[in-house]
Amino acid sequence: MTAPLLTRVAKADAASIEEAVRILKSGGLVAFPTETVYGLGADATNSRAVARLYEAKGRPSFNPLIAHVADVEAARALARFDADAARLAGTFWPGPLTLVLPKAAGCPVAELATAGLDTVAVRAPDHDVAQRLLARFGKPIVAPSANRSGHVSPTKAEHVLADLGGRIDLIVDGGATPVGVESTIIACLGAPMLLRPGGIQREAIERALGRRLAEPPAGIADADDAPLASGMLASHYAPRARLRLNADRVEPGEALLAFGPTLAKGADKAARALNLSTQGDVIEAAANLFSHLRALDAAGANCIAVMPVPHEGLGEAINDRLQRAAAPR
Ligand code: TXA
Ligand code: MG
Repeated sequence: MTAPLLTRVAKADAASIEEAVRILKSGGLVAFPTETVYGLGADATNSRAVARLYEAKGRPSFNPLIAHVADVEAARALARFDADAARLAGTFWPGPLTLVLPKAAGCPVAELATAGLDTVAVRAPDHDVAQRLLARFGKPIVAPSANRSGHVSPTKAEHVLADLGGRIDLIVDGGATPVGVESTIIACLGAPMLLRPGGIQREAIERALGRRLAEPPAGIADADDAPLASGMLASHYAPRARLRLNADRVEPGEALLAFGPTLAKGADKAARALNLSTQGDVIEAAANLFSHLRALDAAGANCIAVMPVPHEGLGEAINDRLQRAAAPR
């Protein structure tokens, strides 16, 4: 666990936005208002900052995050728009609409922020403070609602402080958020599908599209901690290689996903080895998890031996993800 931070609350103005940009650039966490609810922002391209964000939220698993951008042009660097997506963005952005789209080639959003999915959620918020922050930062900002996991979404700076005080660097106070409910989420991965009702009504979206929205399969609901439709809508990244968890030795031919300073027996003979964190830091381990899994898988071993990761802090989410990746398919 990390030491408590001093959380500053600052009225939104040019100075606090510059401070927010400095914090984001150095991998810190900044809560800021959008038109829907307050978001907890981190540099979308910095996996370490994203890992800190999950830790601050207290999420027991890596629920994928929304990448906030200034406009559709910025979004095109992250995601591929089909005709429906382009029409929805053209009609409702900036505004309380999130689009789940296939990742663009070279999408700079950290693998951890999309929880290893091949899709990415993008939205352009309609709020002066959020827009100024995005313009000054110049890169996408991932931001879940700025509440602790399982709590309700915050519509005022004081809600954020009550939930996340001591866990984040700065709260930019822009007053109460006008919409008050989260964005509507639409997946455009084929027939457009409503994943989460929100600030823009279904009817308005259907009018813009000129057709009805597809219904998500039963049982998918937006619980703050439940990966909304991930796993079902888009393939979660699953390694081709088998995973052998809690390994204390490496068998011949296996690759090794290590954790901590003391390596498993036989590590020197591993087909390929990568360490999630040589210092045994779970935040660093989370930041490396998906990219290391992909790299070891690409190296071609049939089995990846995974050393035990402690269940503390983000370790719980790491172990959850490893268990899913190890489950027989
Ligand atoms: O209004 C909002 O959308 C606010 C403000 C801050 O922008 N943000 C927000 O984020 O509500 P969050 O993390 O609390 O909810 C995002 C939802 C989650 O349920 C997540 O599972 C889903 O979006 N999501 C993100 N990426 C996804 C993806 N690639 N596929 C499916 N669902 C995704
Ligand atoms: Mg939320």
